[in-house]
Amino acid sequence: MSDSQSDAASGAFPPGFLWGAATASYQIEGAAREDGRTPSIWDTFSHTPGKVLGGDTGDVAVDHYHRWREDVGLMKQLGLGAYRFSVSWPRVQPTGRGPAVQRGLDFYRRLVDELLASGIQPALTLYHWDLPQELEDAGGWPERDTALRFADYAAIVADALGDRVENWITLNEPWCSSFLGYGSGVHAPGRTDHLATLRAAHHLNLAHGLGAQRLRAAMPARNRIAISLNTAVVRPLTQSPEDQDAARRIDALANGIFDGPLLDGAYPEDLIADTARLTDWSFVRDGDLAAINHPLDALGLNYYTPSLVSRADDNAAAPRADGHGTTEHSPWPCADDIAFHQTPGERTAMGWTVDPTGLYDLLMRYTRKAPDLPLYITENGAAYDDKPDPDGQVRDPERLAYLRAHLGTVRRAIQDGADVRGYYLWSLLDNFEWSYGYSKRFGAVYVDYATQARTIKASGHWYAELAKTGRLPKEPADSMT
Ligand code: FCB
Repeated sequence: MSDSQSDAASGAFPPGFLWGAATASYQIEGAAREDGRTPSIWDTFSHTPGKVLGGDTGDVAVDHYHRWREDVGLMKQLGLGAYRFSVSWPRVQPTGRGPAVQRGLDFYRRLVDELLASGIQPALTLYHWDLPQELEDAGGWPERDTALRFADYAAIVADALGDRVENWITLNEPWCSSFLGYGSGVHAPGRTDHLATLRAAHHLNLAHGLGAQRLRAAMPARNRIAISLNTAVVRPLTQSPEDQDAARRIDALANGIFDGPLLDGAYPEDLIADTARLTDWSFVRDGDLAAINHPLDALGLNYYTPSLVSRADDNAAAPRADGHGTTEHSPWPCADDIAFHQTPGERTAMGWTVDPTGLYDLLMRYTRKAPDLPLYITENGAAYDDKPDPDGQVRDPERLAYLRAHLGTVRRAIQDGADVRGYYLWSLLDNFEWSYGYSKRFGAVYVDYATQARTIKASGHWYAELAKTGRLPKEPADSMT
């Protein structure tokens, strides 16, 4: 048996595989009005009645802004090798323009230093959806200027932290920012305008490209620059030509619109043709595609569940559940004749089907498309209705099974040639789940929102064991389930 065969047989991941967990600023920090921070689009949106379940906001969230040291302690207990967090743009550059606020940058510097002192690699996301409200008031992502503002902001953060953070992610899930923020309106800023959606997608791509250039110029060469995409695994309901064409169209709108310019330096021709009745794409200017095509050091993939689509005879699919909320507005431009279906199988508390084969397909897709690009799973995880038992323990066997199944798939993809370097569990802590407020718990750590007390869940203990040994434990230990 070769070494790699025996590793595979024993359930081992490659040496150096990074075990991480992820969070995002607005979902955990709280301290919404402290130290010079101004409102982001998510502050405005969550304070607008009817936008977030239960009227929840991120004003306090899980108070990470004050409890960051305790939270790094939890990461140590989980044996994490890496922690992915995001910087709140309005905390470090309140109006989205001009000079930085030192107090905001200092918060992240302290966090990073504590991580490094604890042997945990920081992975910094520049934009996880909290656009300064002033930039939205000036037009937001549909306007080109927002991309230029992002590039300046990227340079500010790189100057402050480039000497100590090696892993950089420009944007988190630009599909959600554009299609949910400007298309279906279930995310901030809550607009429902399909032309604005496509313009936003392009300007997010441009922000990535211009931001990556500025990061490269400001940072040591060893630092890695990536983007995190929630590329969709789109499957046709039947093999009929109509359903296959529906899958192709959604694939172009979900994936090609981002990975086309990023990896191939062009928007896919079918995407341009499919959306021709809405736009001629003249907002793409000379030089934009070359900027977006800036070389990446790694690709971040976020995966939760696959999509199943068909050609609908009429527009009977409304209201639509698009994964992050329900609305009568479709996030998808020029696709009113396409229906989305629930994939069969067990579901999480989000209603998302548990299907690890989607993660395998995704990893192999990008292994074929970009064979030289290291892959990181920058988010994967599941929400369940966790509750502490009378003894105070939080037993979450469903999440543990979800993680086990998905990580088994990751290992299989690695054996089949995927260059996967690390995995970030979503999420470190239970937190503010966007339009669902605090009603959905994704954490490896349970948070009692009344007291802010933290308790590592059984799945978290299991993950710690995995992080320590680098191999999938054979069966969940009885004591943990
Ligand atoms: C992803 C987001 C993350 C979290 C998970 C459940 O789309 O990036 O913030 O909401 O979904």
